[in-house]
Amino acid sequence: MTAALRPADPIVVKVALGDRTYDIVIGRGLLASLGRRVAMLRPATKAAIICDDAVASLYLPAAAEALAAAGFASISVVVGQGEGSKSFSTFERACEELIAARIERGDVVIALGGGVVGDLAGFAAAVVRRGLDYVQVPTSLLAQVDSSVGGKTAINSSHGKNLIGAFHQPILVVADTSVLDTLAPRQFRAGYAELVKHGLLGDAAFFSWLEANVADVFAGTGAREHAIATSCRMKAEIVARDERESGERALLNLGHTFGHAFEAAAGFSDRLLHGEAVALGIACAFELSAKRGLVAPAETERVARHLAAAGLPTRVAEIAGETPSVDRLMDLIAQDKKVKRGHLAFILVRGIGAAFVAPDVDAAEVRAFLTEKLAER
Ligand SMILES: NC(=O)c1ccc[n+]([C@@H]2O[C@H](COP(=O)([O-])OP(=O)(O)OC[C@H]3O[C@@H](n4cnc5c(N)ncnc54)[C@H](O)[C@@H]3O)[C@@H](O)[C@H]2O)c1
Ligand SMILES: [Zn+2]
Repeated sequence: MTAALRPADPIVVKVALGDRTYDIVIGRGLLASLGRRVAMLRPATKAAIICDDAVASLYLPAAAEALAAAGFASISVVVGQGEGSKSFSTFERACEELIAARIERGDVVIALGGGVVGDLAGFAAAVVRRGLDYVQVPTSLLAQVDSSVGGKTAINSSHGKNLIGAFHQPILVVADTSVLDTLAPRQFRAGYAELVKHGLLGDAAFFSWLEANVADVFAGTGAREHAIATSCRMKAEIVARDERESGERALLNLGHTFGHAFEAAAGFSDRLLHGEAVALGIACAFELSAKRGLVAPAETERVARHLAAAGLPTRVAEIAGETPSVDRLMDLIAQDKKVKRGHLAFILVRGIGAAFVAPDVDAAEVRAFLTEKLAER
């Protein structure tokens, strides 16, 4: 390889959590160094790679090889693609396979995949043998900028998303940005929504930077690594200050109370991906804030313009298929875990980069807002 083609040095972001501090390593071609990086932390002899079938056919051999080169014997647990795998049945199978393969305390679980596999494998690692170490190897943009960092792990309940889970921090995150080259464009756009969220909730300068550099982030120049690292840095700092979401961490849910309701109403399906629902939810959070006179309508339009420019939905009419009813959405919102003592807690904004927790938003106000939003064409 010539010097000119050598990948740039990886960017390292620390998640400072005392003796559970870990690094997020970001850069092109990092998958090959996975075994060496894990071996520096744990002199384990065994690793279990959990991934979905699509990622398995693309990257499982390379991951297993990288681990073998550093002396790890590895087994793999392959699950089906998509949100459906965050279920009790898949979770049960993953746990049973880890136990059957005699993955013990001291061994390492590798979550190789998007947010679905990260959440599922992280939760399995949290509970099998009362807790195994695990490493996040996020392969979707969404997982690289958001879900692989912070230790929230979960599966879904029939009552709603992420209702069964645990806080369990990984010991390392390895984000190889070159794997994003095989990600479907729609999935890339969905992940971009969570990047935008990080700018909007607390870093106006980052949002402006994204407006100016969106094309480069999509094109995969160095701007992509910069965007991922900035996003991870913001999340890492919030998680370090409020690991268990007793306060500030809730801001990371910007767009998610509305978003989860839209996502559930669309049946957790291809009709609306998580990141797309978040984009729609962010647009709603800004509009509701504007209605309350908290933020200028021009700011709200600026946000919607950027999301739309990135190919993300901002209007309910953009959800494929049947439009959800306001009753159904209100039921789903009431079921969301961010509801406290009958009040609806929403993350609202006073401007771009200035989100805050509004703990007691009146349900009637939300219903009126959604009724208007649903009528939009
Ligand atoms: N734990 C958290 O803090 C947190 C934060 C945000 C989102 N989430 C969760 O993350 C999930 C969404 O994650 P997601 O959007 O990554 O979905 P996903 O894991 O389903 O991945 C999306 C699709 O892309 C495919 N894929 C992944 N990497 C690929 C690659 N490099 N090349 C080709 N195909 C690839 C997958 O097979 C899948 O079909 C949701 O369940 C959401 O609740 C969790
Ligand atoms: Zn999200």
